[in-house]
Amino acid sequence: MKLQAVKGTSDILPEQQTRWRAVVAAAASVLEGAGAGKLTTPIFEHAEVFEKSVGESADLVVQKEMYTFDDRGGRRITLRPEFTAGVVRAFIENGMYTRPLPVKLWSEGPLFRAENVQRGRYRQFHQVNFEILGLATPLADAESVELLYRSIAVAGLTKHRIKLGSVGDPEDRAAYNDYLRAELTPKRAQLSETSRERLELNPMRILDSKDEGDQALIADLDRPLDRLGEEAKQHFDEVAAYLTDWGVPYDLDPSIVRGLDYYRRTAFEVHYHGIGAQSALGGGGRYDGLIQMLGGPELPAIGWAFGIERVLDALEQEQVEASAASGPALFLVPLDDAAVGEVANLAQRLRSGGVRTEFAYQRRNPGKGLKEADRSGARFAALRGSSERSDDAWQLKDLVTGEQRQVSELELIEMAGRLGETDERRG
Ligand code: HAM
Repeated sequence: MKLQAVKGTSDILPEQQTRWRAVVAAAASVLEGAGAGKLTTPIFEHAEVFEKSVGESADLVVQKEMYTFDDRGGRRITLRPEFTAGVVRAFIENGMYTRPLPVKLWSEGPLFRAENVQRGRYRQFHQVNFEILGLATPLADAESVELLYRSIAVAGLTKHRIKLGSVGDPEDRAAYNDYLRAELTPKRAQLSETSRERLELNPMRILDSKDEGDQALIADLDRPLDRLGEEAKQHFDEVAAYLTDWGVPYDLDPSIVRGLDYYRRTAFEVHYHGIGAQSALGGGGRYDGLIQMLGGPELPAIGWAFGIERVLDALEQEQVEASAASGPALFLVPLDDAAVGEVANLAQRLRSGGVRTEFAYQRRNPGKGLKEADRSGARFAALRGSSERSDDAWQLKDLVTGEQRQVSELELIEMAGRLGETDERRG
């Protein structure tokens, strides 16, 4: 039998370590700069730690995603599927609530979920996790969201966006779930199988369904954000106002729902389009009530985690785009030996005027030269041979439309100058 890594797990090879470390180091410097200390918790915990906290209607439990087993001493053990519950257990067990509040803690390491494997969704994956414990003000929510945004930005990503919503207070959630049950029970038969299950346990999660039929059924229904109680609404408005003030790019998401049960009020995610269906790089929210539920004092808290694999995937995607954008706008092709020097001369002039220009270093026949131009990613190719020379002209070819015409050298230089300004490239 050929030995292989278990499905959904992977090796992190030496050549991947630098980028990996850079992502964690970027987050560490942002978070420690904001007063967080690093906490390392065990990779496995008593199963109750997670069973109590993530909630019986959470995906982790409903979809049996936890790796739970009995050890030799007969203890029920779970490989951690997330950080928050273990961090809260450690916070309580080590009496950290007696320190000046808030306590800010960050962690990194592997997590385990028995999920359906696809791009961005693995059975062993890694997170950077951050929690602010002991602070109820909306300012903590805004700070938390901003730190999530910035941790990823400092790693080098530029096109990620925050989705901000609120799941309301427990009463709001219960009322909203009742509303959904009342609306959807008569249409139960038309719902997908997963949504039928959710209708019993956690109707709100139906909003997250990717099934088109489900989406059509819920299209006209109110969203959690439309039905917040007064206090949750005011809290939410204050969080949003801070983020607007600070210039954090966010979109309101009235139907944000999270897969874990402990969230109250603010819920948020950070997304990046271009890494497939699993576009959430990270997510989190407020979880007042959890510390008490796990046997600690009644203290509020908020936090988030981002997936390291997904952030690396997004960074790679942006770099591919960035290197494409730094390719040439114009590619020059010499059709005879005398043209080699002319092409190189013109390239120097254009480059000093800021136009990204490349050229073939040797005489080419037109077919081969155009192929090379095409491969370079340039929008235009300009060819020079003996007939162009006698007219003091160039053959200009638009590599997108295929249109070709003869232009004077002056025209070519003017056109190339405009290319430099508009940064026009093949899109
Ligand atoms: P989560 O939304 O379950 O939240 O996970 C956060 C991030 O971890 C996701 O956005 C994703 O990037 C990554 N992730 C989750 N599952 C997988 C997977 N199977 N494969 C690859 N990446 C994955 C939590 O875990 C909460 N504990 C966050 C939190 C902290 N809330 C409050 N404090």
